[in-house]
Amino acid sequence: MLISTKLYYLDAVNSTNEYAKELLTKGVPEGTVVLADAQTEGKGRFGKQWYSPEGGLWMSAILHPSNPTLIPIAAAVAVCEALHINGILPGIKWPNDIILNGKKIAGILVEIIDEWIVVGIGLNLNIRKFPEELVDTASSVFLETKKHLEKKMVFDHICKHLDDSYIMLQNNQGAELLTKWRHYTILLGQKVTIEMGDTVIHGKVLDISSDGALVVMNSDGKIQRVPGGVCHLSKDRQ
Ligand code: BTN
Repeated sequence: MLISTKLYYLDAVNSTNEYAKELLTKGVPEGTVVLADAQTEGKGRFGKQWYSPEGGLWMSAILHPSNPTLIPIAAAVAVCEALHINGILPGIKWPNDIILNGKKIAGILVEIIDEWIVVGIGLNLNIRKFPEELVDTASSVFLETKKHLEKKMVFDHICKHLDDSYIMLQNNQGAELLTKWRHYTILLGQKVTIEMGDTVIHGKVLDISSDGALVVMNSDGKIQRVPGGVCHLSKDRQ
């Protein structure tokens, strides 16, 4: 197995992604993983902060893919598979938010450095309390299921499944990975609103394309590929 052949396990760190990027400058091998019990400056997408107390699973893997496009999808699928083996069935909201009972329990932050990738995974595993401003949208596996899963065990499962998905990608089997994504996503057939910079797109989700773009049909029947953005399920779903 490539992922986590070399592991840096820290009590606390500013951000596992930042630590991994520093390691990259020192020439660590592909598959190196940073795991921390807490982050003091956890980072989310679009420059947001990521709440990262003890109890969560905060990790970053260093990869050197032939094509980085579907790496975030591979990470989201790996998290779902790792939870699924433990009897928990989360869903994926495009592009790679992991949702349980309507709330976000995990997120993925991919950073590209030359031809290298740092894929950061934040899983709210055993967090028991969230700050006021997050309680409506975020939750943890523990809060949603009352199950306390052992962190190292879930981490090992994530690494194994990330390894499987990564091998698929490196063998040009992206189509199989997307089949797994379709299995977990909560979006197919749903009405969504996608914010893409200043543009807002409304439509019904038809599929995901081979490059990870969301395929959406708007109210005029026009089909559009949306390469990136923030996706919200519409209140009026069908
Ligand atoms: C998101 O906004 O959905 C992405 C959140 C990613 C958080 C993880 S936690 C481990 C890694 N280190 C970071 O600073 N961020 C990512």
